[in-house]
Parts: sequence; structure tokens; C-alpha cells
Amino acid sequence: MKLRESGMPAQDYWETLLDVTGILDAFGFGPATGDVAELGCGYGTFTLPLARRIGGNVHTFDIDQEMVVTTVRRAREAGIPNVQAELRDVLANGFGLSRGACDAALLFNILHAEEPVALLRAARDVVKPGGFVAVIHWRSDIVTPRGPSLDIRPRADQIQQWAEAAGLGADSPAILLPPWHFGISLRVRH
Ligand SMILES: C[S@@+](CC[C@H](N)C(=O)[O-])C[C@H]1O[C@@H](n2cnc3c(N)ncnc32)[C@H](O)[C@@H]1O
Repeated sequence: MKLRESGMPAQDYWETLLDVTGILDAFGFGPATGDVAELGCGYGTFTLPLARRIGGNVHTFDIDQEMVVTTVRRAREAGIPNVQAELRDVLANGFGLSRGACDAALLFNILHAEEPVALLRAARDVVKPGGFVAVIHWRSDIVTPRGPSLDIRPRADQIQQWAEAAGLGADSPAILLPPWHFGISLRVRH
């Protein structure tokens, strides 16, 4: 099932709204990072820059075929070999990766979903102990140019509660990711 309010505006506009480099820096992604799983590649906005900077592969999934095709095409055109993009309903079927296969998982702009705890559990399952689930979302304490309706937009404290329910460590504070986002790193416990 396509998660509610998860459609995308035009690519050029979407990519003016995010400081992708700053966000990937804030989570510490670099050459020492192994494989990463991503729920919802969208246009590959994070997928491609992430793949460029890590040592492992980015396994990314989207329920929308156009998004998968776009991400595959952009990776090919940019000569980025370590992106595996697949059409998949992650809510219904999980990531399809082995348990603990990845160093990290990305849940970016997606936790306004109907079943956030189920998504956090699915992400936790594919990350090895000591790894982390990286979450970003639109702030609701300021007016933002995009983002899901305020009544379903998750706040940092809600995400931390859901993370506890999903068996993730929610011990690190949320960080601001200007101009419009916040982020939380959720630890997969040993
Ligand atoms: C708001 S976009 C965010 C894309 C990307 N994470 C980013 O921040 O640029 C959410 C994406 O999740 C995808 N999506 C929605 N429901 C899904 C599901 N059940 N399984 C996999 N992908 C899904 C949508 O098609 C869309 O591309």
C-alpha cells in the first residue's frame, strides 16, 4: 500500500528543499559505512549522493515504478555502480534483505505513514546491532513550503516513542537540519 501523502512534487523543486550534503554529513555517512537500506528512493535525491560517499551498496525500494526507473537512470548516467533500486511495497513485504545485513537504514520523509512502528521495526530488522536507523522529517514548529498535513506530521518526541516501541534506542536528541527538517539517529541495540 502506498503510504498516505507520499506523492512527490516535480524533481527540480523537491531538490531545492533539502540540504542533502548537510543531512548526510549530520548522520556521519562516509567511506567506512557499509551497506545501507532506504525506504522510498523517490527521485534518488539521497540515494545517489549517499552511494557516492559510502563503501557499501545502497539497497533502495519504492512502490512507485516511475521513481525506481528515475533512480536507476540517474545512477547509470552518473556512473554510480553501488545502487540497487527495486520496486517493492516495504510496508507489506519488508525490505527483503537478510536480518542485520546493513550498517544503517534511511526513513526519510516517510514516518507520517499509517503504521510508523511497523516501518521502524522493518528498518531495525535489516540493520546490524550497533548500527542505526536515520530518520528525517519536516518540522512542524515552523511554516514549511512542503510536507504532509500538520495533523499527521510526526514530531521528534513521537518518533522517539515509536522507536522505543520498535525496539530501537531513542537516546540521542533530535537535530535541526536546515532549512526545513529535523533528524534523529535511532540505535539498533546489541
Ligand atoms: C515523500 S517521498 C520521499 C522520497 C525520499 N525518501 C526523499 O526524501 O527524497 C516518499 C516515497 O516513498 C514511496 N512509498 C510510499 N509508500 C511506499 C511503500 N509502501 N513501499 C515503498 N515505497 C513507498 C513513495 O512512492 C515516494 O517515492
